[in-house]
Amino acid sequence: MSSTKQPWGNTVDVEFSDDIAFVYFNRPDKKNCMSPTLNREMFATLHALELDDRCKVVVLTGRGAAWSAGMDLKEYFRETDNESDAFKMRIREEAAAWQQIKLRNHAKPTIAMVNGWVFGGAFTPLTSCDLAIASDDATFGLSEINWGILPGGNVTKSVADTMGQRNALYYIMTGETFDGKKAAAMGLVNESVPAKQLGKRVRELAKVLMGKDPVVLRAAKEVFKRVRYMDWETANDYIYAKSDGSQHRSGGEFRHGAMKAFLDDKKLKPGLDTYKKDDGKGSKKAASPKKSGK
Ligand code: COA
Repeated sequence: MSSTKQPWGNTVDVEFSDDIAFVYFNRPDKKNCMSPTLNREMFATLHALELDDRCKVVVLTGRGAAWSAGMDLKEYFRETDNESDAFKMRIREEAAAWQQIKLRNHAKPTIAMVNGWVFGGAFTPLTSCDLAIASDDATFGLSEINWGILPGGNVTKSVADTMGQRNALYYIMTGETFDGKKAAAMGLVNESVPAKQLGKRVRELAKVLMGKDPVVLRAAKEVFKRVRYMDWETANDYIYAKSDGSQHRSGGEFRHGAMKAFLDDKKLKPGLDTYKKDDGKGSKKAASPKKSGK
């Protein structure tokens, strides 16, 4: 299904290219900081893209010089300081709804394409994306401590999950900035590349993801995100249940075709290549992962 009613076009924008939906934080004059309006528009956009056939992979990026400068200090904080508790809770829920629920559990694979400033609240959508590629010259900072709050909106949990205790506490407590290379070294992003190569590398990665069985790919990322909080026995049962469920829903064609190509036709080495339905061969050129081990 292709959606005709588009919820983006204001604080969020979308461009479709080669089956990728490039979703933009679209407030470049405000360094793409996240207002209550943006939070609502982003939820609606991501929700719509789940059923939009023009989108096989979501790439979240920013217009202009910023990926996102975090929560909007004016519209999200100061202008709501005197609102009711119920109102404040409502805007927190709307932020969490897209950053921590819709994006984190998105039906399509998601890649953060990090092109500039990334501050505070922006760490939550960053870590909710399945994968992240940064420009070497991107600038990250847990700036909350610099203006008198602690990293809320689950930013603290985001960095505890990705950066490790020493790094996370260092940046939480100092508010110092770091660049894309450091973000990659800490595991906050998968890779950092020179700015000129950012778009190319993200497209390359998106193409790899598009070569997989989409139903199984979705189940694989859901499983990873949930088993971390389960005990061993529960996780083992859950993984088998999801595996069986995803084979049932996908029809198992990809799996059977790949096994035939490997075991019978000897045309595929699944350790090295992705099965490609059309020719039963490994699709080395189209969808082979980078040989970097990442
Ligand atoms: N909230 C509200 N407004 C913001 C913002 C934010 N998080 N980040 C940037 N803006 C606004 C600025 O107020 C300015 O608005 P104005 O043109 O109406 O004066 C505009 O965006 C441009 O920002 P400016 O500070 O002039 O750009 P810069 O290139 O000199 O600096 C930053 C860029 C990102 C370093 C700086 O804007 C900044 O420190 N932002 C706050 C980052 C932060 O602490 N975020 C955490 C929030 S949880």
